[in-house]
Amino acid sequence: MVEILSYGPWAVITGASSGIGKAFAEHLAAAGLDLVLAARSTDKLQAVGETLSRRYGIAHRVVTVDLSQPAGASTIVEATEDLDVGLLVSNAGGGRPGRLLDQSLPDLHDRLTLNAVTHLDLVHAFAPRLMARGHVHRRGGIVLVSAHGALQGLPNMAHESAAKAYVLNLGEALHHELAPAGVSVTVMLPGNVDTPIIDAFGLDRSTLPIRPQPADRAVAEFMTAFLKGRTTHIPGRLMRVMTRLMPRARAVRMNGRMLGRAARNLTDRGSARAEP
Ligand SMILES: NC(=O)c1ccc[n+]([C@@H]2O[C@H](COP(=O)([O-])OP(=O)(O)OC[C@H]3O[C@@H](n4cnc5c(N)ncnc54)[C@H](OP(=O)(O)O)[C@@H]3O)[C@@H](O)[C@H]2O)c1
Repeated sequence: MVEILSYGPWAVITGASSGIGKAFAEHLAAAGLDLVLAARSTDKLQAVGETLSRRYGIAHRVVTVDLSQPAGASTIVEATEDLDVGLLVSNAGGGRPGRLLDQSLPDLHDRLTLNAVTHLDLVHAFAPRLMARGHVHRRGGIVLVSAHGALQGLPNMAHESAAKAYVLNLGEALHHELAPAGVSVTVMLPGNVDTPIIDAFGLDRSTLPIRPQPADRAVAEFMTAFLKGRTTHIPGRLMRVMTRLMPRARAVRMNGRMLGRAARNLTDRGSARAEP
């Protein structure tokens, strides 16, 4: 099997301050890759970078950037111009459960930039750099983190499920388009990975149908799929089995109800905070 190190010396990871992105940082640093760590929280990125540099002797660079803004991706592109990047992990993302019409259009546009347009911008800028490497011992790779929710429209998360479907289809198509140029593309479809997003969405861990999978396990499993040249990967065996067995219409209803409860939890939390 191809080794992670052949995608070095540098990997770029967006959303590296937390959750799945942070787990990618740990996994790739352990394999010996130098890391560009991008997100909004400079302090958290610095802490991740310093810990991993100390632990694995790698180099790191922190890029503070808001990827919900149109110029976000170009900030990363400019900050890495002098580096030999072999792997892009376009992971940053987020959302908010609730009815589409209860959310403002400017907010929805920002989240469309974060969850879809930024992936396009990064792929468009980095793919030519990865293709140019073209040497048998130095490979190019792109990991796009979409979501399990991209597999169907989700009531109470209509916007994110649609934006993530863009990322899924983009990556699935590019897997084939870029293969002849020696660039591997794999899309991750997480649906139940234990990160702070579960709390941010107002989900109650004890009522989830499947126990969330630790982020380090999800990333380790994903990287095996990436190195095997898979097009897409859903972390967690139970999630994969459930996806295969559950009719699409049932998945839409079940997840929609769960996200409706999550949206109400967030509203209750908000009103509890507002009380004197
Ligand atoms: N965990 C799951 O089961 C699950 C399910 C579906 C989809 N996903 C997807 O997986 C990816 C990683 O999420 P996670 O679960 O690891 O959640 P997380 O722990 O909340 O991490 C999200 C990461 O994205 C960064 N980010 C958010 N908004 C950003 C912005 N405007 N600009 C730059 N960076 C931003 C955050 O950093 P800062 O806050 O420092 O900017 C953080 O590093 C996301 O794309 C998410 O949609 C995860």
